Parts: sequence; structure tokens; C-alpha cells
Amino acid sequence: MAAEEDITPATAFAWVGGEGAVRALVDRFYDLMDLEPGFAALRAVHPASLESARDKLFWFLCGWLGGPDHYIERFGHPRLRARHLPFKIGITERDQWMACMMQAMAECELDPTLQQRLTESFLGTADWMRNV
Ligand code: HEM
Repeated sequence: MAAEEDITPATAFAWVGGEGAVRALVDRFYDLMDLEPGFAALRAVHPASLESARDKLFWFLCGWLGGPDHYIERFGHPRLRARHLPFKIGITERDQWMACMMQAMAECELDPTLQQRLTESFLGTADWMRNV
């Protein structure tokens, strides 16, 4: 019988399903942001085109989840909080970001245990982005 550690993926990146699955998650996240009226405040702080944000969040998340460091290779240290300072991010924007990501993870059918763990980690980072 396989011990639990034998079947648990080595990284969250592998657990999500690798690059294709991370890209699908990011695409769903920005599609929902664009479509759902409940995420309008979050959408409003973003530029008209989400194409650059899609690529950057995809590259960033690959590394953040323990996979390839695509973002750092292109841009150096993420300095995430500093890069978010031009945008007004309060509790509403943080909560909409979280709700949008949680819906994207659910629709992409990530393992429920993984969804729970990522939700906790995302919440720490999203709350740290607040600047108003
Ligand atoms: C808390 C609510 C958040 C809001 C309102 C927000 C908003 C934004 C906006 C407006 C941009 C710029 C997009 C563009 O220039 O096209 C951005 C970029 C970015 N965001 Fe967020 N964000 C939030 C949370 C997060 C979190 C939790 C993460 C990571 C887990 C993240 C990762 C990134 C990355 C990697 C970029 C690209 C940075 C760059 O290289 O310019 N954001 N975000």
C-alpha cells in the first residue's frame, strides 16, 4: 500500500498539473474578472487590456508554486507590493481578488485539499498588497 507521502506531489506546481494547468487557471481568473459583475471593483483597477497581466501572473505563479522561475528570469525580484502601489487596493479589491481566484480554482477542478491550501497562501499575499 502506498504511503501518503508517495502519492503527494513534490510541489504545488506539480499538484496543480504543471504549466498548462497553471495557464488555464490564470486564464479562467482573468476571464471571470472580465465577465462577473461581482468582480467589477477588481476589474476597474486593471488596464483595459488584461493580456500583459495574464502573462505576468502565469509566469509568477509557476515560480511561486515551486515550478520554473519564468517571472524572475524576465523581471528579477518580483517586488510584488511595490509593483502594486500604483493601484488603489483596499479590502474590497482584496476580497474580490480572493473570490475570483477561488472561483477559478474550483472551476478548474483543482484538488479540494490543494484549493484550501492555496486559498490560505493567496490570502496572505493578497492582504499584504493592501495599500489603502
Ligand atoms: C489583492 C488584490 C490585488 C489586486 C487589486 C491586484 C491588481 C493588480 C494590477 C492592477 C496589476 C497590473 C496589471 C497590468 O499592469 O497589466 C497587477 C499585477 C500583478 N499582480 Fe496583482 N493584484 C492583487 C493581488 C495579487 C496577488 C495576491 C498576486 C500573487 C499571488 C498578484 C500578482 C501580480 C503580478 C505577478 C503582477 C505583475 C507585476 C508586474 O510585473 O508588473 N497580485 N495586479
